[in-house]
Amino acid sequence: MSFVITTPLYYVNDKPHLGSIYTTIICDSIARYKRLMGDEVIFITGVDEHGLKIQRTANKKGVDPQYHCNEISKIFRNNWADWDITFDKFIRTSSEEHESVVNDFYRRVQKSDDIYMGVQKGWYCVGCEEFKDNPENSSSHKCPIHQKNLEWRNEENLFFRLSKYQKEIEEIVNDPFFIEPKERRNEILNFVSKGLKDFSISRTNVSWGIPVPDIENHTFYVWFDALLGYVSAISLNESDHSLELSIKGGWPADIHLIGKDILRFHAVYWPAMLISAGMKIPKKVFGHGFLTREGQKMGKSLGNVLDPELLLSKYGREPVRWYLIKDISLGNDGDFQNKRFVDIINNDLANTIGNLLNRTTSMSRKWFENKVPLLEKSLQEDELAYLCKKTVNNYLIHFNSYKLDLAASEVLNLAINTNLYLNNNQPWNLIKEEKNNALVRGIIYDVLESTRIIGLLLLPILPELSSKIEKQLGCQYKNQMQWKEKLNWGNLCQDSVLPKPSPIINKLEYDN
Ligand code: MSP
Repeated sequence: MSFVITTPLYYVNDKPHLGSIYTTIICDSIARYKRLMGDEVIFITGVDEHGLKIQRTANKKGVDPQYHCNEISKIFRNNWADWDITFDKFIRTSSEEHESVVNDFYRRVQKSDDIYMGVQKGWYCVGCEEFKDNPENSSSHKCPIHQKNLEWRNEENLFFRLSKYQKEIEEIVNDPFFIEPKERRNEILNFVSKGLKDFSISRTNVSWGIPVPDIENHTFYVWFDALLGYVSAISLNESDHSLELSIKGGWPADIHLIGKDILRFHAVYWPAMLISAGMKIPKKVFGHGFLTREGQKMGKSLGNVLDPELLLSKYGREPVRWYLIKDISLGNDGDFQNKRFVDIINNDLANTIGNLLNRTTSMSRKWFENKVPLLEKSLQEDELAYLCKKTVNNYLIHFNSYKLDLAASEVLNLAINTNLYLNNNQPWNLIKEEKNNALVRGIIYDVLESTRIIGLLLLPILPELSSKIEKQLGCQYKNQMQWKEKLNWGNLCQDSVLPKPSPIINKLEYDN
């Protein structure tokens, strides 16, 4: 069985922003981890191309919506290549393959008698592509997220019988493993407890959408269409493509990783739609927090949007990955601060991990003929071996529960403690006396071995840095050895050649 992980399908009204980079990097790291653990992974990302928001964006630019979508989705793809994102499927909701899956799905829901024609009245946010609850209570009809005026709607729409699934949804959202983190679950429990209302799944004023079969002038509501992208993606690029094949190919998703603002769609509407179509529901919906910049919400009107392309060209992808993975606890909001970013990269990666590797390989080369020491006694399982074992165990537990920040901290702490071990033992003093030679060999081997394990553990988080560490240690493994096996103590070959050290990461400069 495959492990299926998804990012949200991003709106193509604009190029990727730091929020989309964030989710995608986290998913990429989890996908890499699962592959290393031996799972077959289907990592899905893509773009949400229909709806009024996109239609208006294209109109404003004076171009055809399809042309606009082609251009922006190309930018997304190129961005993911620049960030070295290892997705398996990239779904575009304006593709023919997707449309056929939406139609198949609609027929299933129709068969369950869950579709009817009704009148939709309410205040709509085009930015969210969502009707807002009771905005008549507020004096101004503005979207609290977009700070833009809501638009009044009164039109004939097709409705989905969400209310019919009240009981099922209550049960689903009560399962503590379904919605994470648990603080977000309460919001949804509260929403569901108020009683679910049917929601409209078609529009008559939006031409840029998938036409509803057999009903003139109606296109599918963009969310109804977009959520199905997770399903249609599975059989994309396979020899044949259909809803059935997507179901057989790996559905349900193991985890939808999304931002907290779109939790309701994923944890309430989506499961009900799937049950109606006789399909399995996703195993987990994880709502991460929002990124702010220097303590302020990022927004075009505030003029403080952090351009991810600029970050990439200035600092490179791995420093940004490390900051987003290690400094933000997945689920909480996170703040991007330039000074903190530079300090963290310099302290964690350049000083702690980089220097550990550099000074230890230099010592070993100097004292042991450019090689990893040959031990005089058999390999000892002492202090550092124990520490590495404990680190690996904790790291696996954290990664398995999507606590990537804690997994990254485990690796950093191992590097800090390995540096400490070196400083406490002072091999540079011991080596002065010939009688200590065997002892120094043991110390240096242990530190190099611990550094090897640090490098391996970094593989899903910082793939480039990890492979640089592996190269600098001249690591060689038996054929076919799996990552998890490599993590065992003692895999560094004694007496093997150590290449000349060179810095694995450059220090960053702070500027305003
Ligand atoms: N198209 C829908 C998703 C459909 S999924 C079937 C959508 N797209 S979006 O492009 O507007 O948002 C994509 C994701 O970015 C959402 O998960 C949203 O929460 C997230 N973020 C938007 N701003 C963000 C930050 N400032 N920080 C972190 N994530 C943010 O919604």
